[in-house]
Amino acid sequence: MRPKTDLFATLYSRLAFSLMVVFIAIGAIMIVTSQRMFETQRLFELVANLVVGTVAFSLIAALVVFRFLTLRLRRLGSAIEAFRASDFAKPIRVETSDGDDDEIGRIITAFQEMSERIAMQLTQLEHVDRERRELLANVSHDLRTPLASMQGYLEMVLIKEDGLSQEDRCRYLQIAVKHCERLARLVRDLFDLTKLEANEVKPQVEAFPINELAQDVVQKFALSAQKRDLRLSASVSADCPPVCADIGMMERVLENLIENAMRYTPAGGEISVGVHRAGNRVELRVSDTGQGIHHDDIGNLFDRYYRADRGESGDAGNAGLGLAITRRIIELHGGQIRVESTPGLGTTFTVELATA
Ligand SMILES: Nc1ncnc2c1ncn2[C@@H]1O[C@H](COP(=O)(O)OP(=O)(O)O)[C@@H](O)[C@H]1O
Ligand SMILES: [Mg+2]
Repeated sequence: MRPKTDLFATLYSRLAFSLMVVFIAIGAIMIVTSQRMFETQRLFELVANLVVGTVAFSLIAALVVFRFLTLRLRRLGSAIEAFRASDFAKPIRVETSDGDDDEIGRIITAFQEMSERIAMQLTQLEHVDRERRELLANVSHDLRTPLASMQGYLEMVLIKEDGLSQEDRCRYLQIAVKHCERLARLVRDLFDLTKLEANEVKPQVEAFPINELAQDVVQKFALSAQKRDLRLSASVSADCPPVCADIGMMERVLENLIENAMRYTPAGGEISVGVHRAGNRVELRVSDTGQGIHHDDIGNLFDRYYRADRGESGDAGNAGLGLAITRRIIELHGGQIRVESTPGLGTTFTVELATA
C-alpha cells in the first residue's frame, strides 16, 4: 500500500511534483547536450535536436501525467453512466486507494454519497406510493361495505313505507345507524392515524395520575361489559406516580386496548386493567381471557390495517387501525408497548411510560 504523505495530498501538489520531474529531466538533457555542443561544435544541428527533443519529451510527459491524473475521473464518469443506466437504483462505487483523498477523491466520495441518498429516497418514495395505493384500496373497500348496507336498509324503509311494522322499521333504522357509527369511527381513525404518522399532532403533555384515568375509562366501559357478560375490573396501586403525557391520547390508548379485549373475549370472560410502578416507569396492563393471538400474527399486529382474524369479525368498525394508532401514540411519548398472548387462553398488552 502506498504510504499516505501530506506532500501529495492535493491534486495541485501532484501536478506540481510531476512538472518538477519533467523540468529536471529537461534540464538534465540540456546540460548533457550543451556539453556535447561544445565538444563537437555542431551548433545548429544540436540546437534543433534539443528543441525537438524537449518539445517531444514535454508532450509525452504531459500526456502521461494527465492520463494518470484523470484516470479516476474517467472511472467516475463510467460509474455515473452505470448509475443512470440502472435507473438510479444502484449507487455509484468507484475503487480508490488510501492516498486518494485529494480534490478528485473528495468529488468521488461526494458523488457516492449523493447517489446512495438518491437511490435510498427513490426506494422510499416507491414504498410510500405502494402503501398509499394499498391504503386507498383498503379504505374504499371498508367504506363501501357499510355504506351499501346502510343504503339497503334505508331504501327498504322508504320503499315498504306502510307495509312495514313499527318494530321492523325501528330495527332497520337502528341497523342503519349502527353502520353509520362504524363509518364515522373508521373515518375518525383514518384521519387520526394519518395525522399521527405525518407528525402533525404534538402531544399536549402534562403530569396527571394515570391510575385515576384508567379507573374512569374502565367505568365508562362497565355497562357494555355487563351487557356482553364480561367481568371488567381495574386494579391500580394507589402509590403509582403520575405520568407526563397527553391525557386525551392516553385515554384513546386505554379505550383501544379495552375495546379490543372486549371484542376478542367471549361471554363469561374476564378483562383486567392494571396500573403499577415498575422501577422508574409506570406500567399499564390490559389483560383478557379471550381467544388470544397466534404467534405468527404478533409481529404484524401493530401494522395499520392488520387484522389477525380478517373475515371472521372484520367490519368497518374494526378495520385494523386501533393498534397502529396506539403504537404511534406510545412512540410519541417515548414509551413502549408489547404484547404477550396464548391462543385460547388470553392476551396481555403492556404499556410502559416514563414517570413525571
Ligand atoms: N385482546 C386481543 N385479543 C385477541 N386479538 C386481538 C386483541 N387485540 C387485538 N387483536 C388482534 O389484533 C388485530 C388488530 O387490532 P386493531 O388494530 O385494534 O384492529 P381492530 O380492532 O380494528 O381489528 C385485531 O384484528 C385482532 O385480530
Ligand atoms: Mg381495535
